[in-house]
Amino acid sequence: MHPVLGKLFARTKSIHDIEADATDGRRKLARHLTAFDLTMIGIGGIIGAGIFVLTGTAAATKAGPAVVLSFVFSGVGCAFAGFCYAELASTIPVAGSAYTYAYATLGEIIAWIIGWDLILEYVVASITVSIGWSGYLVKWLEGYGLMLPSAWTHGTFDGGIVNLPAVLLVVAITALLIRGIKASARATAVLVLIKLGVIVLFLVLGVPWVRPAHWSPFFPFGWSGVIAGAGVIFFAYIGFDAVTTTSEETRNPQRDLPIGILTSLVVCTVLYVLVALVLTGMVPFTELNHPAPVALALEKVGITWGMQLVSVGAVVGLASVVIVMMTGQPRVFFAMSRDGLLSPWIAKVHGRFHTPYRATLITGAVVALGAGTLSIQVAGEMTSIGTLFAFVVVCVGVIVLRRTRPDLRRGFKAPWNPFVPAAGALLCFTMMCGLEFATWVRFLGWMVVGLVIYVLYGRHYSHQKSEDLP
Ligand code: ALA
Repeated sequence: MHPVLGKLFARTKSIHDIEADATDGRRKLARHLTAFDLTMIGIGGIIGAGIFVLTGTAAATKAGPAVVLSFVFSGVGCAFAGFCYAELASTIPVAGSAYTYAYATLGEIIAWIIGWDLILEYVVASITVSIGWSGYLVKWLEGYGLMLPSAWTHGTFDGGIVNLPAVLLVVAITALLIRGIKASARATAVLVLIKLGVIVLFLVLGVPWVRPAHWSPFFPFGWSGVIAGAGVIFFAYIGFDAVTTTSEETRNPQRDLPIGILTSLVVCTVLYVLVALVLTGMVPFTELNHPAPVALALEKVGITWGMQLVSVGAVVGLASVVIVMMTGQPRVFFAMSRDGLLSPWIAKVHGRFHTPYRATLITGAVVALGAGTLSIQVAGEMTSIGTLFAFVVVCVGVIVLRRTRPDLRRGFKAPWNPFVPAAGALLCFTMMCGLEFATWVRFLGWMVVGLVIYVLYGRHYSHQKSEDLP
């Protein structure tokens, strides 16, 4: 390896320095969040477009009724990654999430790559889901005879002028996030309780209409279909990891972060498997390739009021996903800027609300621009590949930190190390391999842009700078 590259890999940030930065009074966030808040943030980020939209597509085109097993496969991969997140979050409880864990374990270059990669997860997911939210809102209003002009509900590159509802949602959420983490957590909790209620209602209404004959054949596309389906519905699980970006705002992070991550993941996995079972039992899978499959199933059995309620659940659910994703991104920017890899200007904390308001404003501006102009198709797979890559690195990070710092106090330990972290990395990599070639090309292009920025800026201004680098 080239000596300069070797030094950049060797530039790790010590846990001591990481903790010192997080307690520095000038850049300190307010600690308000409890285990309940974190669980709500986790569920808030997880349940959204994935279950309300992609379940139908995955069943109809990839896995058939065995989409139920796709949810189990993807859920197991996420659970293993979730254990690893829980371990690292309880050991290094600071705002940067996977970025900071990589900095402590795998070196600055990998940390930068992950920080850059997380933009794909949080910013691109926020854009995707706010466009999806706008689509659901428009349809829901149409149900009441209120027609919004198409030019103002579609992005510039999607046949319209600007997607105004999506932009307004992003502006409102940005204001909420600057106002304070407690206010955002409260809003998230209310939205989560509504969407959970709607999902339970769907299950209660749907079960009597399940016809086991619809589950046959169960594997119309074989086991390879199950794996391909898992790659698609992985999107539905994204979000639990955003909990870890609020580490510095959590009252008892070592105990509460693992609770928040794992409880939200278990609740959502159980609900997802049940929804997939009921949905494919109610409607033949061949008819499920529809943008709103859950509402469609209720419509097909004649429960139209239930269909309207599911649409409300989707509007509410998607809004909470955007809140959580837009909570995550500024905190990663904040940590990167505090380390010198981005301009220090970004890391300023609001004097009154104690939030990373500049990082939040930048995030809001970028997401609003994307949400107002883009179409939904491109963004979805980019989110999945970016997130899966971060999961792989977090799983590897656990194995490395167990070797390099066995002495650290861990609030939670991933079971059966190194089997669980290694299996988590492998399952997530398998799902990455199932994504489109074009997605890989865009992903690698994004990474190259990131590396150029690092070479031109971050490597010179990093606080871990070693004097002997050219
Ligand atoms: N898991 C989130 C959703 O499905 C991103 O909308």
